[in-house]
Amino acid sequence: MADHIPKEFLELVLQRIDLVALIDARVPLRKKTGNNYFACCPFHQEKTASFSVSHSKQFYYCFGCGAHGNAIDFLMNYDRLRFPEAVETLAKQIGMAVPHSKTSEKALSFQHLYTTLDEAAAFYHAQLRQAPKAFAYIKQRGISEEIIRTFRLGYAPRGDTLLQTLGKTEEARKALQETGILNQKDTRFYDRFHERIIFPIDDRRGRCVGFGGRVMDNSEPKYLNSPETPLFQKGHELYGLHQALQVNRQLPRLLIVEGYMDMISLFQYGITYAAATLGTATTAYQVQSLFRYTSEIVFCFDGDNAGRRAAWRALQVILPIVPDHVQFRFLFLPDNEDPDSLVRREGKIAFEKRVTEAQTLSQYLFQTLMTDIDLSTVDGKTRYINAALEHIKHLPEGIFKNALLTDLRQKTRTDISLSVEKQSVVSTRPKTSSNRSSLLRYALSLLIQFPDLAQHVTEPIPSGIIPGTELFNQILEIAQQKKTLSTGTLLEFFRTQPEEKWLASLAQEELSLPQNGLLSEFLGAIHKMRKQIKAHFIQKMLEKAALGSLSSEEKHELNQLIIEKE
Ligand code: CTP
Ligand code: MN
Repeated sequence: MADHIPKEFLELVLQRIDLVALIDARVPLRKKTGNNYFACCPFHQEKTASFSVSHSKQFYYCFGCGAHGNAIDFLMNYDRLRFPEAVETLAKQIGMAVPHSKTSEKALSFQHLYTTLDEAAAFYHAQLRQAPKAFAYIKQRGISEEIIRTFRLGYAPRGDTLLQTLGKTEEARKALQETGILNQKDTRFYDRFHERIIFPIDDRRGRCVGFGGRVMDNSEPKYLNSPETPLFQKGHELYGLHQALQVNRQLPRLLIVEGYMDMISLFQYGITYAAATLGTATTAYQVQSLFRYTSEIVFCFDGDNAGRRAAWRALQVILPIVPDHVQFRFLFLPDNEDPDSLVRREGKIAFEKRVTEAQTLSQYLFQTLMTDIDLSTVDGKTRYINAALEHIKHLPEGIFKNALLTDLRQKTRTDISLSVEKQSVVSTRPKTSSNRSSLLRYALSLLIQFPDLAQHVTEPIPSGIIPGTELFNQILEIAQQKKTLSTGTLLEFFRTQPEEKWLASLAQEELSLPQNGLLSEFLGAIHKMRKQIKAHFIQKMLEKAALGSLSSEEKHELNQLIIEKE
């Protein structure tokens, strides 16, 4: 990353900008396959569209001329801006100012904001015990002591206790304002959440990033949330996910619900694998970030029309990103119930029965499309097939997509094929799995395209034997340090470095979707490499041993290697 603009800032900007929207405003894009958008390349003359933009990777690539990059690159090349100007333009779009060299990196680390939020959460939590009315409200909602502690529920008192307690210095007050807790009206400051029950919102790692506040009567708005800040984006966080991850080593199934109270009540009743969206529609970002924790995601909706609409919207959001290894279900609740009321009324077992019996994605899709269509007529059948294909085409290539097509064929007894315009597809799958450098190349491609995979690797690959391992380890480390990283942001770390071109080419390669899931494919490749490296060491030592030049220490090492070989 460039020296004078702190890299944290570049990351922040790249994470928050949507590359598809940015490009689409200049070069109209059309949706084609899965996650990708296409246009005629703005960087060379052409008649067919070979310029592709990936939403999930936040990265563009032209199959014709090789132009590629992230949002910064696009502005540099398209608007002909210099690097700092491009960053400036992007920063402006998300309402931030570029910190200049005078600002120290420390000021940007946001550590002080995390601290402020944490202190505020502790303050509110303590206040709950001082406020009989608030405490009575919590009790009346049936929330247990343990839940109050686990979720650090709190109360924001009226008056300026918050300011008196946490905003004594000018600096502290500024931090309270930056996190959106403290508002200013004329010369007076007031707590945004005053007289509300507080639900601290933690990120995945358990750091408080914002709050939700509920009134204790029927006044409006019922809930008030923290404004979007650099640390808090509603479309990124899921309420309660941290707690769910804390109590479950494995999350075979994850339930997405709509409300804070829903999440909390389910948890209290022993359904500890739910998380709540924050009053906004489910985003691809939220769903995608769950793929590494779970293999089943169940969306929970009210049974009314609003719930049906929300479900249909969620379906459109997830279609382009459905991976083969994750099963989706849609659960509709009876009228006038939400998970909170229902689990309290009928208990854990009955609620879980609903969950396990919920419609799968394909059942939900096919059944919804079937509404009002008469399959016994040619006309009805045609409309049905077209409507279904209109959705299925958005799915990424893979087993699931094929299964849906087969299903559709059987349902309609029609021979259907989805003709997808082919783009130049390069497979990076190693031809022979024993070829070391292609194994590394393959693992590297996967890692660059799905940086979250890094979280599953505990140790770097021993370097020096397979070319490229140093680079692989370097990327592994970067990806492990960041919680969510797009391909485009990852490549920003290599701007102006010699590896950049190679990495960019790996980033755009079309990977044939692995049979047995991304993760096991990735770990499998790494495992093979480790085995090869070990075999190599053993071979070298045996050669040395044959010459009789092995020290006793080396002999011991050799023994160890051979013992643990498999
Ligand atoms: N919400 C919001 N702002 C509002 C209303 C709702 O942000 N004015 C969000 C909150 O995250 C809330 C969720 O939408 O948790 C669901 O809203 P709702 O169903 O109205 O509330 P419940 O979660 O059922 O809360 P309660 O049971 O306390 O009424
Ligand atoms: Mn409710």
